[in-house]
Amino acid sequence: MDYRRLGRSGLKVSELSLGSWVTYGNQLDIAGATECMAAAWDAGVNFFDNAQVYAAGKSEEIMGQVLKKLAWPRLRYVVSTKFYWGITDGPNEKNTLNRKYLLDAIGGSLKRLQLEHVDLVYCHRPDANTPIDETVWAMHDMIQRGQALYWGTSEWSAADIAQAWHIAERHHLHKPVVEQPEYNIFHRDRVEKEYARLYGDLGIGLTTWSPLASGLLTGKYKNGIPADSRAAIPRMKFLVEDLTDKKKNAAVGDLEMLARELGCSVAQLAIAWCAKNPNVSSVITGASKVAQVKDNMKAVDVLPKLKPDVMERIDAATAALAD
Ligand SMILES: NC(=O)c1ccc[n+]([C@@H]2O[C@H](COP(=O)([O-])OP(=O)(O)OC[C@H]3O[C@@H](n4cnc5c(N)ncnc54)[C@H](OP(=O)(O)O)[C@@H]3O)[C@@H](O)[C@H]2O)c1
Repeated sequence: MDYRRLGRSGLKVSELSLGSWVTYGNQLDIAGATECMAAAWDAGVNFFDNAQVYAAGKSEEIMGQVLKKLAWPRLRYVVSTKFYWGITDGPNEKNTLNRKYLLDAIGGSLKRLQLEHVDLVYCHRPDANTPIDETVWAMHDMIQRGQALYWGTSEWSAADIAQAWHIAERHHLHKPVVEQPEYNIFHRDRVEKEYARLYGDLGIGLTTWSPLASGLLTGKYKNGIPADSRAAIPRMKFLVEDLTDKKKNAAVGDLEMLARELGCSVAQLAIAWCAKNPNVSSVITGASKVAQVKDNMKAVDVLPKLKPDVMERIDAATAALAD
């Protein structure tokens, strides 16, 4: 496992990391999450991603208990959380990045995670109803108070990220150092086009999500929906149309043949493809079973095999279907 700088910041994160969306508190209890985090750690992962909203706080609680149980040195791992959607009802508790919500939310997350600080905190979505300077000041204050070390955004437009960065620059505040966008073989445009200027000009790093497009890029949806898969979870129904898309599944079939030639699984190929992008600091993987973690972490061995001709073949199989 290699460690990459989080954009222009000095923080080093493992090129592959592990997140807890959908899984912790739904598919994995404390024992299952412990197995998965320990397997990732054994493979060299130092970054574990979370969010306040995941399983309405339960995911942070589980991760907190796992971290306590595994008792790794605090300096050796990076934990994140994210704020926007909120987990209680009220005008200042949901769908906001206002100062009142943000400075309250961090306290709850730290309690659930049983930590004195998180390393990274993300504004989980943009908020059109709060001035960006109010959010920037609140994130700066969170860091000044020692509750977080670095901050960033998730799925913000390039224009909003640049605005936040320039506000921080103007007032000598802690700047956003990272964006967390979706990025996989079928979803590329934002990372490769819209954000192009953010990397060199502003030093923004990326921690990217859904490298397997929620499991589509494992090949498991080629013949329908397996009973133990994400698409079979009732509240994840919104993913079904994409996961069972015939053209995309046919393209995954082509990728499987390529993966076989390279001596790896299509999941490993898809994860390595994300990590191949030099603007990506860490590819956040997800897993509902420890065997998936072990399988996915081997993607680091596939990276050197992604020569230009292999990348061209991946493009030929999928580019027309990507957005
Ligand atoms: N910032 C954001 O808005 C945002 C949004 C989404 C995710 N994220 C972060 O990114 C992380 C990863 O996202 P993701 O979970 O969507 O990633 P993903 O890699 O696209 O999907 C992971 C899911 O695919 C299946 N899977 C994984 N490895 C497999 C394998 N080797 N063989 C077969 N199936 C496999 C598992 O689901 P099943 O076994 O249940 O089918 C697993 O939970 C999240 O945990 C979260 O931390 C952030």
